[in-house]
Amino acid sequence: MGLFTTKIPKIGGSGLARHLTLLDVSFIGVGAIIGAGIFVITGQAAATTAGPAIVLSFLIAAIAVGITALIYAEMSSIYPVSGSAYNYTYATLGEFFAWLVGWNLLLEYGVATSAIATGWSGYFRTFIDTNFHVALPVALSGAYDPDKGTFVDVSAFVVIMAIFVLLALGIKESARVNNVIVYIKIAVLSIFVIFGLQHFDIHNIQNFFPFGYEGVWHATSLIIFAYLGFDAISTVAEETKDPTKTIPKALMLSLAFSTMFFILVSFTLTSMVSYTQLNVPDALAFAMVKVDEPFIASIIALGAVVTITTVMLVMGLGFTRVAFALSRDGFLPKKLCEIHPKTNTPVKLTLYGGFFLAFLAGFLPLKILAELVNIGTLFAYFVVAIAIVLLRKKGLVGSFRLPMFWVLIPLNFALLIFIMAGLETHTWIRFALWSGIGIMIYFAMRGKLATHEEA
Ligand code: ALA
Repeated sequence: MGLFTTKIPKIGGSGLARHLTLLDVSFIGVGAIIGAGIFVITGQAAATTAGPAIVLSFLIAAIAVGITALIYAEMSSIYPVSGSAYNYTYATLGEFFAWLVGWNLLLEYGVATSAIATGWSGYFRTFIDTNFHVALPVALSGAYDPDKGTFVDVSAFVVIMAIFVLLALGIKESARVNNVIVYIKIAVLSIFVIFGLQHFDIHNIQNFFPFGYEGVWHATSLIIFAYLGFDAISTVAEETKDPTKTIPKALMLSLAFSTMFFILVSFTLTSMVSYTQLNVPDALAFAMVKVDEPFIASIIALGAVVTITTVMLVMGLGFTRVAFALSRDGFLPKKLCEIHPKTNTPVKLTLYGGFFLAFLAGFLPLKILAELVNIGTLFAYFVVAIAIVLLRKKGLVGSFRLPMFWVLIPLNFALLIFIMAGLETHTWIRFALWSGIGIMIYFAMRGKLATHEEA
């Protein structure tokens, strides 16, 4: 028994109920993908990093994430279990790498939930201020920052607690709420494209590469955030009907659909106003105001608040399911993974986790949280790509197979390295610190691991 002991996940028998259909699961994907990235980061990346060529950044990111999604599809057709990349790594690279991936997935889903909540809070405060003239006291309207006089972002804190109470109530209820909101999201982005394209002005995109190719590269590393979350689909495999077929299909559908919207929206945005004006927190609504469409702008602002809520819901769900798998295997206290008999959900884990993430959202700024999320997630994608190579070598075959394996796998490694290399040095340092803390926890908890107990 050692660092590289592998463990094949048990399929079924988790106590979680199988309620989710292809539509539910695809909507969980779209719910996780389209959110703060397109509404908040696109405008800022276009203004400061890529200009109108942000469309190309979305394309490059789509190729990288698309291959990763195909790999996840193959993985989930072999191991249709909760815990996603964590379980895939456990089965191939062993417990040490599994823990590192699990630890980074907590970062992805958990810290992303906190990051998105702070983005949500910004839109929310603008919304209640402009429509109802209600302004929160300064001390309660931002992360802890003595210079600005802000102490806690109270709306970010409260919204996370509300989301996690909903998650504790049950997967079926959460999926139903998610489905309704995804329809609203599609409507809002469609309205943006339809009205925005009417204000198309060729002058805005004539200077297509204002920051050169390097700008497109850095923007890709930034806007990859917009795509993160598709893998949340594979964290609900144990609650899905016929998962070996449903999960691969849902991965492809939700990613293709979201990519189409990202390209359309980013093109529309940069062609209706000059990219130089887009360094604002609410770029889509702002652009509508600029072209004299204030009513559409307010619909979009409200839509953003609602939409970003679904992302928190799905990322929060992913967080609880990864933590569930980690606790089941002894990396986190076992008591956390008890399933409540009435709700069929891990209630303790959901509520404790929610409180912790609400705390992060309340006291830390969006930028620090979001940058960590990108690098942690890309690392997990990288390890999963190694894992699929090992599985193929072992001769394990699922009902879904990545096509053109020996072309797409090297391309995937190259693209992931390229995108990670585009992140700033301080992000790498924080990532090393986070992984270092993870490694310390691993050695502290090692004696309690399920693989050791079984020995
Ligand atoms: N893709 C998610 C978003 O953009 C994380 O909010």
